[in-house]
Amino acid sequence: MKLWGGRFTKEEDQLVHNFNESLSFDRKFYRQDIQGSIAHVSMLARQGIVTEEDGQAIIGGLKGILRDLDEGTLVLTGEHEDIHSFVEATLIERIGEAGKRLHTGRSRNDQVALDMKLYCRDEIDEIDGLVKGLLEELLKIMEEHTDTFMPGFTHLQKAQPVTLAHHMGAYFEMFYRDRTRLGDIRKRMNYCPLGSGALAGTTYPLDREYTARLLGFVGPTLNSMDSVSDRDYVIELLSALSTIAMHLSRFAEEIIIWNSNEYRFVELDDAYSTGSSIMPQKKNPDIAELVRGKTGRVYGALMSILTTMKGLPLAYDKDMQEDKELTFDAIDTVKGCLVLFTGMVSTMTFQKDMMEASAKKGFTNATDAADYLVNHGVPFRDAHGIVGQLVLYCIERDMALDDMSLEELKAVCPVFEEDIYEAISMKTCVEKRVTMGAPGQVAMRQVIEICRRRLQEPRP
Ligand code: ARG
Repeated sequence: MKLWGGRFTKEEDQLVHNFNESLSFDRKFYRQDIQGSIAHVSMLARQGIVTEEDGQAIIGGLKGILRDLDEGTLVLTGEHEDIHSFVEATLIERIGEAGKRLHTGRSRNDQVALDMKLYCRDEIDEIDGLVKGLLEELLKIMEEHTDTFMPGFTHLQKAQPVTLAHHMGAYFEMFYRDRTRLGDIRKRMNYCPLGSGALAGTTYPLDREYTARLLGFVGPTLNSMDSVSDRDYVIELLSALSTIAMHLSRFAEEIIIWNSNEYRFVELDDAYSTGSSIMPQKKNPDIAELVRGKTGRVYGALMSILTTMKGLPLAYDKDMQEDKELTFDAIDTVKGCLVLFTGMVSTMTFQKDMMEASAKKGFTNATDAADYLVNHGVPFRDAHGIVGQLVLYCIERDMALDDMSLEELKAVCPVFEEDIYEAISMKTCVEKRVTMGAPGQVAMRQVIEICRRRLQEPRP
């Protein structure tokens, strides 16, 4: 069957290599790979599994490779299958025989499990910092706008008046929960798989406690088969990132609405908006739209890893190599979104007048008018009907409830007195809502204090 001679075999080899290789993407964690190798060989020397001299030579060699990769003097190319082979081959090339002892008592299976964990852990820390940066911006807006009135919506219909501080506070809660989620994942994942070997540990007297400690883990993982095949933390991280992306997307959507010609609640800074190639009047919220749109690829990464892991028999399977590309993309995407979004939020300006006028126009004080009647002895169901009639009356005349004269009000219900105007003023509507979590100043100030403290405390 050798119809194609040697040539086909060669081409096929190349195709297999291309399909199988991971260097083109796992190069992303070369730092973590070297960090793990340094910990591993330090332990090997400490345990007398390699000599002190070999240990020192290997560590020196690895540090040199790290420095050269960081500086770009060593280029990550070649026919190597993955970052692990690349580092090991380069080490042997540079320091000779001693380099061949690095991989003693280790498999690429526990090595890659470690690298991916270290990488995800580093990224969790970085993302937590970015979310914190966004929270700091939100807190600033909250502090400044406890009496900036705006309509609160349900079904995207004006419902009741709130304040800008209150609205921003909702996002503060969402992103704060995101931080706690990242913290939870970090705690749960923080056990070291190194020393699990291919799947069944090794016969060398490894000190797994020691390497775990060197690498900042709580301790070693407890089952070597699980250790090399656990990607739960990738799934959890992508789930947390999907939630962050979802939160960003909801916020972006509101900013897009607020920035529209119809609302004009906010004005985006020129740096965060773009013009149209044909319509000179346009100033488009592209950044907000992109943040909203990029949510799709983050969700995609989550679906991908869930599907890849489904049905995999223990222990390591090559399928798991598919845990990387989309995870890296999702991490970079969310980081990019957080940076741009924070910049956009911190530079946009709020049109307080527009917000307040909008709240006034939409009968957002109708509930309070009904409550006024209830406080004067009218049953709530009747009060609801009476205010409904008032609203209809106002709509026909294009006016607000506050614009009605006392005679007009009394014509519908004689219970109304002069103090109705005070009772349904925007200020009263908001200020009377002082239960914990409500927009009234007193409650809001308390919450702001708690938020401020949350940002000073160690990360959740
Ligand atoms: N590139 C591989 C991965 O990402 C590394 C582990 C390879 N192990 C193996 N037995 N082929 O999963």
